[in-house]
Amino acid sequence: MTVSNDLDLSVLLADTEAEILRVVQDREPSTAGVYEMIRYHLGFDGADGPRGKRMRPLLGLLAYASIAGDHRAALPGAAAVELGHNFSLVHDDIEDGDVERRHRATLWTLHGVPQAINTGDLIFSLSRVALHRLTDLGFSDAKVLRLMRLYDETCVLLCEGQYLDIATSAADEPMTVELYFDMIGRKTAALISASIEAGALLATDDEDVIAGYRRFGWALGLAFQLNDDVLGIWGQERQTGKEPTDVARHKKTLPVLYAFEHATPADREHLAALYAAADPSPDEVAEIVTILERSGGQAFTRDEARRYRDEALAELDALTVVDPAARQQLTGIIVGVISA
Ligand code: IPE
Ligand code: IPE
Ligand code: MG
Ligand code: MG
Repeated sequence: MTVSNDLDLSVLLADTEAEILRVVQDREPSTAGVYEMIRYHLGFDGADGPRGKRMRPLLGLLAYASIAGDHRAALPGAAAVELGHNFSLVHDDIEDGDVERRHRATLWTLHGVPQAINTGDLIFSLSRVALHRLTDLGFSDAKVLRLMRLYDETCVLLCEGQYLDIATSAADEPMTVELYFDMIGRKTAALISASIEAGALLATDDEDVIAGYRRFGWALGLAFQLNDDVLGIWGQERQTGKEPTDVARHKKTLPVLYAFEHATPADREHLAALYAAADPSPDEVAEIVTILERSGGQAFTRDEARRYRDEALAELDALTVVDPAARQQLTGIIVGVISA
């Protein structure tokens, strides 16, 4: 097994970026504008444009490397999951009405909703094009088809999750905790899990091993969205690069559901009235946040994020074929991203 400084995260990141850039270059002068929008969203418009954490490709490459050694054959998969993630963000910012991402203006605020929808669609299409380079790298048709199926089914889950997120935000009633976990599983855990599963799938035919990586990814994905839902209310914009708008958007995330169940009767009634207001003022948002804190919703959601993070770490530990250097890098990412 080749374990070398290839597992240096900066090498994995640089290789991932080069792989993504292969598919987001201008094709012809007449359509250069849409590729410019893509590169803006991906942070490729300048030398130091904000690029996000690139967590999904890193996880996928490390999963692959943990079994197969050298990460390079898995790069098309890494590019695909990062592009897939970014198509969902371009659309998500329209759906959520959010004006800031990665410390700057969201695409739709600069170019309008129609162009942003289409740019998201193009990023999605390019994510599938990226996967076909696996064939050029020598993977069998059966392997590539299996991966494309995993990827397509994942995108179906993601869009179903977004449906639930949007539908439950529009409803007055809080959803059940069970439906919340179903929603975050689809909208977020599915892609994180698939990124890791894809790495394993490219590296081995052993179904038990692949299933172990999938379980690890699913627990991490739930932890990640729980953490993001804490940040969506209590996150600092200067750190996250996005405004904490979840309460103003009536998102029924776990802190809110917990408060609806556990707040005092007076707080609950007040919360219901505030959450029913069409456009809560900053003072009303602050009142809601105070109720979420007083009822224990913030602490409970943090604990749940840590519980799933620990489950992910335990699943990772249980994987016997993991190369120690890759395992260490994976552990570092998990602990680093569940920080709220
Ligand atoms: C944000 O994901 C959307 C969620 C699924 C919570 P990330 O926090 O991974 O976004 P970037 O790519 O690093 O900006
Ligand atoms: C994350 O949605 C899930 C997807 C984009 C599919 P959120 O709306 O919770 O993520 P942020 O907080 O805007 O990044
Ligand atoms: Mg959003
Ligand atoms: Mg959203």
